[in-house]
Amino acid sequence: MKHLLSAQDLTRESAIGLLDTALEFSAVAERSVPKLPTLRGVTMVNLFFEDSTRTRLSFEAAAKRLSADVMTFQAHGSSVSKGESLKDTAQTVEAMGADIIVVRHGMEGAARELAHSGWVNTPVINAGDGVGAHPTQALLDAATLRNHLMPEPRGSGLEGLSISIVGDIMHSRVARSNVFLLNTLGASVTVVGPDTLMPPETAGWPCGNLRDLDEAIAGNPDAIMMLRVQKERIDPEQLGGMDRYSARYGLTEARANALPQHTIVMHPGPMNREVEIASVVADSSRSVILDQVKNGVSVRMAALYEVWGDHS
Ligand code: CP
Repeated sequence: MKHLLSAQDLTRESAIGLLDTALEFSAVAERSVPKLPTLRGVTMVNLFFEDSTRTRLSFEAAAKRLSADVMTFQAHGSSVSKGESLKDTAQTVEAMGADIIVVRHGMEGAARELAHSGWVNTPVINAGDGVGAHPTQALLDAATLRNHLMPEPRGSGLEGLSISIVGDIMHSRVARSNVFLLNTLGASVTVVGPDTLMPPETAGWPCGNLRDLDEAIAGNPDAIMMLRVQKERIDPEQLGGMDRYSARYGLTEARANALPQHTIVMHPGPMNREVEIASVVADSSRSVILDQVKNGVSVRMAALYEVWGDHS
């Protein structure tokens, strides 16, 4: 795998290979010195044109656990404000010694363009491109589902699991990547949300499609993944107001109590507490939200290891 650009590029075999590698790497975190020499001498650059907490920091932690050097670019405060392009920025960091570029960009397709344009000769990992894809998020979600719900996670897919993804599907690269990856791994996926947040292309996605959250809950999903309402891209009037949205699509305590006991609650973060998820649910014992964050580090170690191994 020279680049990691989209969950749709992953076969079942390659996804399970990445998840198994991540499982091996997760043991490193338990050591007194949580480091391996695997990427010593390699420089990873985080090229972030959009804000991030989890993805940027976990790529940094992943690279450091593999003994790589890390450089971080954030558009805010950079020469992007003077009009510098993605191409010039990427070539600049490569000239400074970047061996692997991890890129987050607001434009859908930006990571693929960087990987295939010939502008740089490094492996490229997509850390989120507009509403396009967020493959390492889908992989860390799959890792979390396997760890919690599959009796023998190593080597396994997600056969037999049903997963509901709820909320702002329209603006969510997390939903797009998860629908395809979880389906590739054998799970049955349903997207749930209002018409206004359900893009027409969902008709062609390998998933069920519901408008009613209570109907989804009555279907006894094994996992329910709540999505952030992307307030910066939505006029609340579109939703009939946030209170109405929360009443119809928020995971309240009552709704969580209606789920089977084994059902896990997921959220990619950042959360709008009391909008798409009640605080009491986010902080409850069935919430695996911080496990998702933890698994992000080992999944990103696996992604760095795989792209560098195929490049060098
Ligand atoms: N889930 C996720 O991508 O979070 P960040 O935007 O904080 O990286």
